[in-house]
Amino acid sequence: MGGQLAIDGGAPVRATPLPGAYPGATIIGEEEKRAVCAVLERRSPFRYYGPDPAYVVNELEETVAELVGMEHAVGVTSGTAALIVALRALGVGPGDEVIVPAATFYGCVNAVVACQAVPVFADLDETVSIDAAAVEQVITERTKAVMVVHWRGVAADMDPLLAVGLRHGVNVLEDCAQSFGAEYRGRPVGSMGAINIFSFQMNKVISAGEGGMVVTNSGSLHRRAVASQDQGTPRGSAAANFPPFFGENYRMSELTAAVLLEQVKKLERLRSHVRRVGSIIKAGARGLPGVHVRPMADPAGDAGFNPGFIFASPELCDWARQALAAEGVPIAHPYGGQPVYMHEAILAKRMWHDGPTPWDDRFYDGTADYGPGLCPDAEELLPRVCEYHLSMDWTEQDARDVAAGLQKVMQRVPSELLSAAQVS
Ligand SMILES: Cc1ncc(COP(=O)(O)O)c(C=O)c1O
Repeated sequence: MGGQLAIDGGAPVRATPLPGAYPGATIIGEEEKRAVCAVLERRSPFRYYGPDPAYVVNELEETVAELVGMEHAVGVTSGTAALIVALRALGVGPGDEVIVPAATFYGCVNAVVACQAVPVFADLDETVSIDAAAVEQVITERTKAVMVVHWRGVAADMDPLLAVGLRHGVNVLEDCAQSFGAEYRGRPVGSMGAINIFSFQMNKVISAGEGGMVVTNSGSLHRRAVASQDQGTPRGSAAANFPPFFGENYRMSELTAAVLLEQVKKLERLRSHVRRVGSIIKAGARGLPGVHVRPMADPAGDAGFNPGFIFASPELCDWARQALAAEGVPIAHPYGGQPVYMHEAILAKRMWHDGPTPWDDRFYDGTADYGPGLCPDAEELLPRVCEYHLSMDWTEQDARDVAAGLQKVMQRVPSELLSAAQVS
């Protein structure tokens, strides 16, 4: 593609804004409206009882369990709630460590601290996912769980991670918040760890605005998860020989489940759409100097929502972001290009109270400090990672515009940026 770059005063590749993200929101239609109205007409929006309950949360749980290939599912109010419930089902508490990837949403860390445990960060591999060797380096006798985050629709390399968990007798928890519908070597994400979670918040694959799900094959983890989302109180037949413990209310509403049941039915259509559109973008970027498509442990299992790119250097990445924005095809840095432990509350270990924290030596006999230098590979990689956010609103022409923008910009990278990146 010819022409001067838009940052240098040339005509942009595209004059109108690209479509937005929020994939689940872009497939909301009459079906969701009808399903919500049906719950309201029965005047029974609570999952366990009411004038005429339809038990929609139960139906959603059965549907998701079947889709993921797990025995049990528990609907909850959010992905963060799902993490708290799953960690508590595993018995995570004071003095325990939970390993968390250096790149993730800080809600993962909040969930660990909500269980009064200590987050420990593991470095990333070149796929921007938690690295099994790095997990093994930080595992200790205090490690109660390894939280594997399937980042941006792409499965982490599960086989080595599961092997590390097995070797050390530590449970793996899959956080599939960003990756409903992704697979790893033919297995759906959420089917491999001991207890795994999904989020249905607005940025996620399918959405009711908020919502979450815990899945497991274990009857005892399921019983503990059910109690953990319902004030620590067991329900049904489990109640007879299961003492209650402290807990909060993370119960999913029937209204949320009504929306999600309809969204699940549309998952396949949505996924094949974004995979098709995304493949145009990725094909357009192949072979360009200074950038490559994010590598994946299993490219065939990519759910396809976030075509990711890795630039040769942070400086080149910054320049390309500005140039692509000027061309009308802006690309975004996930999490500002920083590891999660650079979040202010985490750096400061700041609680909502002034009392002893989970790191206090009354509870915890390890050391866990957070700051620059903790996960060098993540710190080197993340400022070079960028992505697009696809949804049902994207057309193939939108994708062709992005590909054209990437080609125009990356074929005109200033030579000093390219050679500096090649040297570093
Ligand atoms: C990897 C990951 N885990 C957990 C969460 C928390 O989900 P929610 O926002 O539903 O609480 C998110 C949300 O962005 C996430 O990306």
